Amino acid sequence: MAAASGSFLSHLACTRCGRTTSPHLLQGVCDCGGTLLCRYDTEAMRHALKREDLKSREASLWRYTELLPVQDPAHIVTLGEGFTPILPLRWGAQHGLTDLSLKDEGLNPTGTFKARGASVGVSRLRELGVQRVVVSSSGNAGDAWAVYSRRGGIEATIILPQDAPEPMLVESELTGHDLYTFAGHNSRGGRLAKSFAENHQAFCANTFQEPYRVEGKKTMGLEIAEQLGWRMPDVVVYPIGGGVGLIGIWKAFNELRELGWLHGKLPRFVIAQYEGCAPLVEAFTSGKDSCTPWGEIDTLPGGLRAPKPLVDFLILQILRETGGMAIAVSGDDALTAVREVMVSDGIFMCPEAGTTIVALRQLLQSGWVQPDEKVVVINTGTGLKYASLFPASPHHIADGVEEMR
Ligand SMILES: Cc1ncc(COP(=O)(O)O)c(C=O)c1O
Ligand SMILES: [Zn+2]
Repeated sequence: MAAASGSFLSHLACTRCGRTTSPHLLQGVCDCGGTLLCRYDTEAMRHALKREDLKSREASLWRYTELLPVQDPAHIVTLGEGFTPILPLRWGAQHGLTDLSLKDEGLNPTGTFKARGASVGVSRLRELGVQRVVVSSSGNAGDAWAVYSRRGGIEATIILPQDAPEPMLVESELTGHDLYTFAGHNSRGGRLAKSFAENHQAFCANTFQEPYRVEGKKTMGLEIAEQLGWRMPDVVVYPIGGGVGLIGIWKAFNELRELGWLHGKLPRFVIAQYEGCAPLVEAFTSGKDSCTPWGEIDTLPGGLRAPKPLVDFLILQILRETGGMAIAVSGDDALTAVREVMVSDGIFMCPEAGTTIVALRQLLQSGWVQPDEKVVVINTGTGLKYASLFPASPHHIADGVEEMR
């Protein structure tokens, strides 16, 4: 395996006021409160690296170090995350779509794509001297940060909703870090993490409160481009909460275009949310530039519970610029879709990603997606973490029966 060369990180840029700052100082958000994103010197990188150079690199997200913020490979905290497969889906052909694939993030450590954000986030924060983080999440990010913080030797405090699926609570707790749960609205978790950070000199690594998590999730986009032979799909369907993954994939395609490694139009981005917490769908369909905070949240446990994503304006801009779409689906329909894909393809999707299948079916029926288009859905995690939502009812073999017909 060839070692990758260094990072081309050049500065941080604020998504709200546009101000740029040095990437080498520890900073959560911009002075104006806006989310910071990493920027790279793609012009210099163009001359230093060709896309063919990646071929001999390790099969993890760290194959893209030039486009990642970590400066010294000694700080990399890894459990082998990334380079997950893109699998053709028979479900597509069964529904009149000839070229449907699924990016299977369930194969990551901790069973979800949150491992990408945690690996890059913990690595970079550790490099910048952080010794203690606090993270509140709807579940999967919390356990990923618990695991990667342990791996990286930093302390973590994890704050999860009381009804987070058991595997997420168990995995967090088994790391030995402090785990807290809370009842009520998800925005409470965010507030609790912020006040904990202030009182305990911990770094708050909540969604879009720091610039590095999205860089990890960006690698999904880098991989999709590379795995499709340096082409972009026509449509990407993403189950959205805070939007880190969607912005990451969009950012990846843009950086690859700047590098001259990708050409042409960006895919149309489609987002799917549960009906019981769909602030982005509501804002998109009513033509607004930002979300009204969602009141009562009524969704299945797990992700997709972001009542007002911090960078809602950027997500909505991406949807509009790419000619995308936003669709809300019921939890029951998402669970049914998970069962369907299990039967058609043997892939146990998480219910959050089940929403993408329901959305896609609607878009096929309405003609918004054409049968010959290249479509990629993101399965953000394994359904195994949600097994309790699918109670098994096997055929029981009675005592004394030793032969099956
Ligand atoms: C399984 C799963 N899918 C999707 C999401 C949404 O993630 P993002 O913040 O990228 O919108 C989450 C976030 O909690 C999640 O756990
Ligand atoms: Zn700013």
